[in-house]
Amino acid sequence: MEDRNTAMIVLLLLCVTAEMQVDGLSLDVCASCHPKATCDDKSDGSGKVCNCKYGFVGNGRTYCQDKDECQIGASKICGLHTDCHNTQGSYFCTCRSGFTPSNNMDVFTPNDGTHCQDIDECTVTGVCGEGGQCRNLEGSFDCSCILGYEVQNGAEPFHPHRDKASCKVVDCGRPEAAEDTVLLSVSGTTYGSAAMFVCEEGFVWRRGNNRSVCEADGLWRGGNMSCEEVNCGPPPAAPHSLRLWDQSSRPGSRAIYQCNSGYHNVGKGNVSKCNAAGEWERPPLLCKDIDECTVTGLCGEGGQCRNLEGSFDCRCILGYEVQNGAEPFHPHRDTASCKVVDCGRPEAAEDTVLLSVSGTTYGSVAMFVCEEGFVWRRGNNRSVCEADGLWRGGNMSCEEVNCGTPPSRPSLSQAVGPELQAGLQGDLSV
Ligand SMILES: *[C@@H]1O[C@H](CO)[C@@H](O)[C@H](O)[C@H]1NC(C)=O
Ligand SMILES: *[C@@H]1O[C@H](CO)[C@@H](O)[C@H](O)[C@H]1NC(C)=O
Ligand SMILES: *[C@@H]1O[C@H](CO)[C@@H](O)[C@H](O)[C@H]1NC(C)=O
Ligand SMILES: *[C@@H]1O[C@H](CO)[C@@H](O)[C@H](O)[C@H]1NC(C)=O
Ligand SMILES: *[C@@H]1O[C@H](CO)[C@@H](O)[C@H](O)[C@H]1NC(C)=O
Repeated sequence: MEDRNTAMIVLLLLCVTAEMQVDGLSLDVCASCHPKATCDDKSDGSGKVCNCKYGFVGNGRTYCQDKDECQIGASKICGLHTDCHNTQGSYFCTCRSGFTPSNNMDVFTPNDGTHCQDIDECTVTGVCGEGGQCRNLEGSFDCSCILGYEVQNGAEPFHPHRDKASCKVVDCGRPEAAEDTVLLSVSGTTYGSAAMFVCEEGFVWRRGNNRSVCEADGLWRGGNMSCEEVNCGPPPAAPHSLRLWDQSSRPGSRAIYQCNSGYHNVGKGNVSKCNAAGEWERPPLLCKDIDECTVTGLCGEGGQCRNLEGSFDCRCILGYEVQNGAEPFHPHRDTASCKVVDCGRPEAAEDTVLLSVSGTTYGSVAMFVCEEGFVWRRGNNRSVCEADGLWRGGNMSCEEVNCGTPPSRPSLSQAVGPELQAGLQGDLSV
């Protein structure tokens, strides 16, 4: 009850005071305040006053104008990398493009500690397009082209939103084949593509690489193969043979081999061809020595054949001797031949006569007897014609039959027989 009375008294007192003011100024101050103003007590307590609300400037009655907080500068009021936005009675801040508020909201006022931080645009993949490499910058980013890509419609570095520039893959175009070569295959025309070359027909690899690669500078590089016309040169020699060759060394050219005389081919053919790689095939022939001595009579009668590498020769067997040449001889090349040894007619030694002769050639036998009136004394009565052409063996000598002086009469010892002699001797010894 007493509280309510007290409140009533205060209210009355306030009203009285207001009446006094109104009386003094002859108008209600508070009623005259601008809508964007508040009616406040004067600091000295001498009455009321209209004050423009926070964010507005003016006299509080006839006008209260918005105060532009931003005019002192965004960086001063909002911080770095900001834009300041004034509103009726207030302001807010936003981050410049390329920056984002640290409170993760679109707008902020700096009195909560929010600031603008750089956005790393490069975390977004593909921001620079195909072949582009992103580089983050303070508040921005730019792009350049990676290896194998080149910038088009502009220069590096570029900004994909602001510039028309972009990266495109390096294109080397169609590879060109060098002289005497042809393109075998190509995997594409862009960076990293590979092209293979082969030699033109009738040509063979001489040196260099057969593979080119499209490189970052837009040029095909690496392939430096050079080819040369296929030339097999002279065909190789084969042992014991001769080549029949028309001097042509082109692919398909042929060389025919022939075994030397004295050899025969035991191989698989006699032709070698010049192949596409510029090489003669291995001669297929194999020349083996012929054993001429298997042919009987090659050296003629009395000739003995001896096989030699690629040839043969002849000598005379025992009882034969070479004529018209020397040993060894070759019956086709030489005029020499073998003929049987001939000892001629055997001659009878002194006091002998030729009894018989089987011939005059090697091995013949001649028999001698003593001339009439002569008797054999010693030696052989038989000669043989030997290999050296001489009659040998017969060395019989005979002597004239000579009875000496005939006996006048027989002596005792001659007249009696042996029995008698023994008897006589026995008698004598007794
Ligand atoms: C070919 O190129 C290779 C490297 O790619 C080089 O080593 C070689 O010497 C070159 N050959 C010729 C014949 O130019
Ligand atoms: C290319 O050269 C390599 C050796 O350098 C060889 O092995 C390959 O067969 C060649 N390819 C062709 C198509 O000639
Ligand atoms: C090569 O061999 C063939 C049979 O294979 C033969 O007819 C021809 O005479 C031979 N040529 C020579 C030169 O030996
Ligand atoms: C006769 O020749 C034989 C051998 O044939 C020999 O043994 C002998 O001594 C020779 N006789 C004489 C008398 O020369
Ligand atoms: C030759 O001599 C041998 C003994 O040496 C003899 O037996 C033979 O009768 C002789 N022949 C002739 C024909 O004299």
